Amino acid sequence: MTSIHPSILSADFANLAAELQRISSADAVHVDVMDNHFVPNLTLGLPVVKAIREATDLPLDIHLMIDDADRWAPEYSEAGCESVTFHIEAAARPRELARILRSHGSKAAMAVKPGTELEPHLEILSELDMLLIMTVEPGFGGQSFMEAMLPKITAARQAAEDLGGTVAIQVDGGINRDTILRAAEAGADTFVAGSAVYSAADPDAAIAQLRKLIPGS
Ligand code: DX5
Ligand code: ZN
Repeated sequence: MTSIHPSILSADFANLAAELQRISSADAVHVDVMDNHFVPNLTLGLPVVKAIREATDLPLDIHLMIDDADRWAPEYSEAGCESVTFHIEAAARPRELARILRSHGSKAAMAVKPGTELEPHLEILSELDMLLIMTVEPGFGGQSFMEAMLPKITAARQAAEDLGGTVAIQVDGGINRDTILRAAEAGADTFVAGSAVYSAADPDAAIAQLRKLIPGS
């Protein structure tokens, strides 16, 4: 099923509660946590995520772009976030981490950077609810979709189907009206969109426009 997850990285951080109300038709809120170590940018952390939790009933899709995911990711599931994504490049024990996240009642997701091969990590797919294929180098919004990631999205979809189709395939980076259909046709079903949603005068209308471009959604 198609899901649209606006990224608040492109929202006004001084007015987050109001910005969340502008995306009421979203399937979840994508929250980009960056630590200036795993990626060369710094955004927000657990205290702000807890405040966001209080400010919206929408499901929270936390994208952790931080080192030492094993230490920090469980704190986000304990804080009531519906989905927590760790980067495979930052997790020492990904299988155990996924199990812990699920035991706290959240979905467990794993992200791969553009330069990271997917195949060596597919063995833990059965422990996951979602696989995030990065379609830009993580760190900043507003970058261009990397067409070269399309085969990786298709490989992820194939692996998910082999397991019975319960794992969502998410794409993040450069998703807009020009790229969303190609990502969907390659096999993605869950779409993060930051600048494409929040640069619009009406973010909810932008979500509807993106949704309409996916056949059958
Ligand atoms: C980038 C973040 C993305 C970002 C996407 O590292 O993970 O979620 O907000 O922004 P757009 O949609 O503008 O590429
Ligand atoms: Zn993200």
